[in-house]
Parts: sequence; structure tokens; C-alpha cells
Amino acid sequence: MISKCLFPAAGYGTRFLPATKSMPKEMLPILTKPLIQYGVEEAMEAGCEVMSIITGRGKRAITDYFDISYELEHEIKGSPKEELLEGIREIIETCTFTYTRQNEMKGLGDAIYKGKVLVGERDPFAVILADDLCFNPKGEGVLKQMVKLYEKYRCCIVAIMEVPEEEVHKYGIIEGNVIEDGVYIISNMVEKPDVKSAPSNLAVIGRYILTPEIFKMIETTKPGKNGELQITDALCEQAKKGIVIGYKFKGKRFDCGSVDGFVEATNYFYAKDQKH
Ligand code: G1P
Repeated sequence: MISKCLFPAAGYGTRFLPATKSMPKEMLPILTKPLIQYGVEEAMEAGCEVMSIITGRGKRAITDYFDISYELEHEIKGSPKEELLEGIREIIETCTFTYTRQNEMKGLGDAIYKGKVLVGERDPFAVILADDLCFNPKGEGVLKQMVKLYEKYRCCIVAIMEVPEEEVHKYGIIEGNVIEDGVYIISNMVEKPDVKSAPSNLAVIGRYILTPEIFKMIETTKPGKNGELQITDALCEQAKKGIVIGYKFKGKRFDCGSVDGFVEATNYFYAKDQKH
């Protein structure tokens, strides 16, 4: 039912300089797979077939990655290395990739709005922030869990998790009432509050299911934190007019936008690979 997934991927990735000077942060690998591939695989598992990527200057490596590389494939044909390309080959054969550019960094809300031309205004769609790497060792991926919840509630859904108080300033923070185990109806959302004004320690992480009404909300949202158009503020408006759900997902989330989280993810997936 949710066939399109939007990947905002226009950011500079300054925390990984100099590596990201000439390479998109979404292409940094966890073991041998770029971060964005983990996101695309999660979206595929959730039933998405169209991957819509918001790129920017210096991000052509992403477009090339999700395309066939004839020369390379010809070179390794018949060798054991061929199987290393099987995963990405399957993705290219199964999914359609669409792209548009965000020309100026005006915030996540603006990036998502740029995606309107790709996802259209008729159907709900998913959003994955690839530097939040999510993995559920015990079963279904986070986006799939959210798609199931969407089938029940048919409204915008954000994935949430508890964070330590000293970290609330890094996230969109929600306030809400529990309606079933792990499911909250959101009454308020604040982008990157300081500890004193944070309504809770429930942080939004980079997984969203949005209904097309969000585009209207973004149109009337004023620039917020850091002068940027925040999706958190648009969703807060949506929450006041209708229903927005916060879902405490099952599984792990690695903050691969930070060096610590990136190393943690690398170690985790390396240990997991060794077991097989
Ligand atoms: C964005 C959102 C924020 C959310 C976070 C999750 O912030 O604006 O609400 O909590 O992603 O990773 P960013 O980390 O891009 O600054």
C-alpha cells in the first residue's frame, strides 16, 4: 500500500569531514555496503518499490551506485567476486529510482517538500533518513512495523525511542498519550529543545510515514530551529488538526551521522557476520 520511500540525502555530512568532502555521507560503508543501501533494503522489505532520493550537489555517486556498472561487471564475470554484486543487482532490478535535487539546505521539511514531485499528492509515503541505521535482529524491520501500524490507523506515523535527557537537544521530541503498547497519539512536538523545555525524552528517529496532507502543512510552516523548515513543526500542526502517531519501534537504531554511532554499527554488523 505504501509503495514509495523518500530518502532526503542532500546534507553535507560535515561530521565526517574530510571523508565527505567529495563523497556523499550516504555512501560511507558499514562493512561493504553503503549506508543508503541498508535504508533501501529496509524499504523494500516494507513493500516499497519506488525509491525517491533527494540529492544535491556532489551526490552523483548515489545515482551511479543504483545503476548497472557494465565495465565492472564484465571485468569480474565468471570470478567469485561476481556474487559480491548480487545484492545491489537485485535492488536495481526490483526497484525504480527517482531523483530530484534540493538546491539549498533549508531543512528537512524543505527536503521532504522537494520530494512532492517524486511521490505525488495522492498516496501516503515513507521517509527514511539513511544515517539512522535501523535493524531488528528479532524480526521485521522498523519501516515494515510502521507500515502495519499505518494499515490500522491511516495517519502520519513517526518512529520514536527514549533517549537520555542530555541528548534531547539533538532530536525532535514528542509529547503524547499511550493508546496501545508502544503507540502514542502525539499532542505536541518540539525540534531539538533544551533539556528544560523538552516535553519528554521520547525522540523522533529517521523513519516516518506521511500522508500527502503534510505538503499543505509544510507550505504554511515557518522556518523554525536554526532558521530551517522543520518537518517536526509541520507534523506538530498536523497533530493539532488530526492524528499523528508516535511508535516505539522494536529493534536497534544506530546514529550513523555521528562517528561513535558509525563505529558502533560497524562493530555490531561485523560481529553479526562472524557468527554466520
Ligand atoms: C532530524 C530531525 C529530528 C530527528 C532526527 C532523527 O534531525 O529534524 O527531528 O529527531 O533527524 O535522526 P537531524 O539529525 O537531521 O539534525
